This record gives sequence, structure tokens and C-alpha cells, in this order.
Amino acid sequence: MNKIKIDELISETSIMRSKDFVWGVATSSYQIEGAATLDGRLASIWDAFCEEKGRILDGSTGGVACDHYHLFEEDLDLIKSLGFSSYRFSIAWPRVVDINGNPNELGLLFYERLIDGMLARGIEPMLTLYHWDLPDHLQQIGGWTNSDVQNLFSDYAALVMERYGNRVKYWATHNEPWCSSFLSFDLGIHAPGKTDRYEAMAVGKGLLMAHGKAIKKMREINPSAQLGIVINPIVSFPHTSSERDQKAAEIHQAELNDFWFDPLNGKKPPECLDLPNLSMSDLFKPEDLDLISQPIDFVGVNYYTRAVIEQADNIRGYEQVNIPNVERTHIGWEVYPEGLEQLLKELQASWPMPTWFITENGAATDDVIVSGKCEDAQRQRYFQTHLGAVDRAISSGVPVKGYYAWSLMDNFEWAFGYSQRFGIVYVDYETQERYPKGSALAFKNFLLHG
Ligand code: FCB
Repeated sequence: MNKIKIDELISETSIMRSKDFVWGVATSSYQIEGAATLDGRLASIWDAFCEEKGRILDGSTGGVACDHYHLFEEDLDLIKSLGFSSYRFSIAWPRVVDINGNPNELGLLFYERLIDGMLARGIEPMLTLYHWDLPDHLQQIGGWTNSDVQNLFSDYAALVMERYGNRVKYWATHNEPWCSSFLSFDLGIHAPGKTDRYEAMAVGKGLLMAHGKAIKKMREINPSAQLGIVINPIVSFPHTSSERDQKAAEIHQAELNDFWFDPLNGKKPPECLDLPNLSMSDLFKPEDLDLISQPIDFVGVNYYTRAVIEQADNIRGYEQVNIPNVERTHIGWEVYPEGLEQLLKELQASWPMPTWFITENGAATDDVIVSGKCEDAQRQRYFQTHLGAVDRAISSGVPVKGYYAWSLMDNFEWAFGYSQRFGIVYVDYETQERYPKGSALAFKNFLLHG
């Protein structure tokens, strides 16, 4: 029996309890699909990165992952049986476009079956075009900073919209572009693992340009689609009240929030992000901002933790601090639900949107299966307190229309490999057996039995 009531902190009158509120689970292509070389799928930058020694904590790859490519019907059954009404998934660009830029029909067929499988079960698809698996040959020609690659992204977006636009209502261009720029090109932690802040900023801008181009084309093809982007904004707290730390926290927060939301709203990011010989007004020209700020219908927010920041003598001007005596999850991230409420209020005040979704929220815990069961009490509490935070933000006026738990099931957690389990469903990677954890059952109790 489940003792933790996941909706306990959601008020009785909350719109989160109405049938219009969207409850979903999220995944991404490279983290779950496997079948990395099947049916003409090309290599992505993550396939290449995983081959490099020392890049992935446990030396693993997404080559097989959860084998969702073959088990997707079963996984859709699981989503349905847990009571969720929506599934946020991503398309692997290298699966659906061949090396000459032509459609790969076998790859397209997979997503067609996946989408039709959702619709047959009454599950609303939310589609993400780019969850970090850039075709590797496009990185070889310069990646996102090359305007040809940005244009190819908009061609890919148009192709997918032509195919599935009659069946999919919600479309996001990028997932967490901060990760595919700063985390990948400045901090060197994600593919392709470079450490050049100037390049990271150029890539960030390139991702935004590609977003603008894709939105423009998709809007032309399907004016009734709901189009958006998924960001991982943060609240950054200064470690001390010193002016230096306050300034450092301001830079960090601007990098995670303003660098994305300002251009999306037609504005250049703040000067605190300027580097020697590179100002934000050099990087974002007025015509770039015009392209990037295409009207969109929603923004997805991915939230896991907050940041505590101190001043540092490096090119960034800051460093993240791990403060002691706070609750942390298995991956080391602080549990800080108040941050989600604060963040949503700040976002709506600074960059108002008609619709926000929580497109990811969840926790890694050190899960074990005992007699077929996994009691993930910390994860259940995590969901409970964060749902409470979302509810408080909504009642203060932030239009949040849905919530997606990360993740449907344990999967390939990027540079952490399989060492971190974020699923509400446990995956035995040896047998590909799925076991709903306590948190999945707690969601089910709430969603199916109120
Ligand atoms: C987010 C990613 C997602 C997953 C979670 C834990 O940054 O979007 O793919 O890795 O973190």
C-alpha cells in the first residue's frame, strides 16, 4: 500500500484538480530508444561522445538504453495504465533524415506508430524536435553556429510538421538550449565536450536562430499548432550577502534565464553576460532578435533544483557552491521546492506567457527492487512538495496548464550513464522488465481515483 499521497499539498479547489489540467510523463529519444544503428539511423553527437573515453561516468552508451524502439507499445500501455493523459517525447533528427537530407521513411514510420499508439489510447502527444541528438555529420560542418545547419533544422521541423501536424497539437523546438550550448561548449560536460565560453554563446545564439526559423516554417504549414520551446531556468542565490557574490549570482541567473527569454521577447540579454571583446549587442543584432522573437504559444519549464553561487576568478565570474546540511537527491542536487514557486512567479512577471507547462520535474533516488517492488519514498515526497509549489504559483496568477514528471522510466542519464535513476518506473536493463515504483502508484492513485 502506498502511504504517501502525492496530491496532499495541492489545494482542494486548485485547477490542478480540474480535468483540463494536463498530467504527463516525459522522456527523450536518445535516453530511451536504443536501436542506435537500426533502420538507417545516423550517428548523433551523443553516439560519438559516448565513444570517447572518460566522457560517460560508467562508460555506457545509449546504444540499447530501454529498447523503447521495440517496446514502445508496452511503454504506451504503461503510461495509460498509470492514468497520465499526455506523453512528452522527442524525435531523433538522425533517425528521420538521411545523410543527403532526404526523409528516412523507416524512421518516420516509427514515430508515426508511436503517435498513433498514443492517440489510440487517448494520450495527448507533446513533441520535442531537439533533445540534444544533433546528427554528428552536422556538427562536423560547424553545428549550430553554421546558418546552413540552422536552415536544415527548419527543414527537418517542416518535414515532421507535414507528416504529423494533423495529429500532434503541442510542438517544442528545443529542450534546454542552455545544456546544448553552455553545458556542452563551455563546461564541456555534454556532447561535444568543448570548453570555450565564446563558442558556447555563439552556439546558444545559433540554437535560438534555428528556433526562430523552425517556428516560422511550422506556423506557415500549420497555423493551428501550439508552438513553443522548453527552457531550464533557475533561481540563483548568492552564497553570501557580499556584493561580489550577488553580482556572480546575477550573472549565473542571466545565463540560465535572460540569455534565452530576452531574445525570445525581442530583447538582447543583459550586459553582465558580456565577455572581453564580445558584447551582447554584438552577438544579437536587431535583425537576429526579430527572427528569434517569433510569437509562440507556450514555454515549457524544466525544474530540478536551485543554484547557490559565489564569485570566482574565471571567465564566467562565478562558481556553484554545494552548501552543507540540505536535503539532496542521489545525483547530488538540492531539494528546493520553494524555488519552483518563486521561479514561476518571476518568469511570469518578467516575460509573461499565456501558457506555461512544467515539462520536466523529478528526482534521482538510489532505487532497489525488493520482491518486485521499489519504495522510492524520497521521490514521492519530492513530487508532493513540488506539486504544492506549482499549485501556489498558479493560485498567485501564473497560468501553468500542465505538469510532466521526469521521467516515465529509468534511462540513460547523459554523462552519468545509467548510474542515476529518474524513472517513476524502474527498468531492469538486463531483462528490459519495467516495474512501476511507489511514485508511479502514487500518481496512479491520484489520477485514476482522485
Ligand atoms: C534535464 C534533461 C533530461 C534529463 C533530466 C534529468 O536536464 O532535459 O533529459 O536528463 O535533466
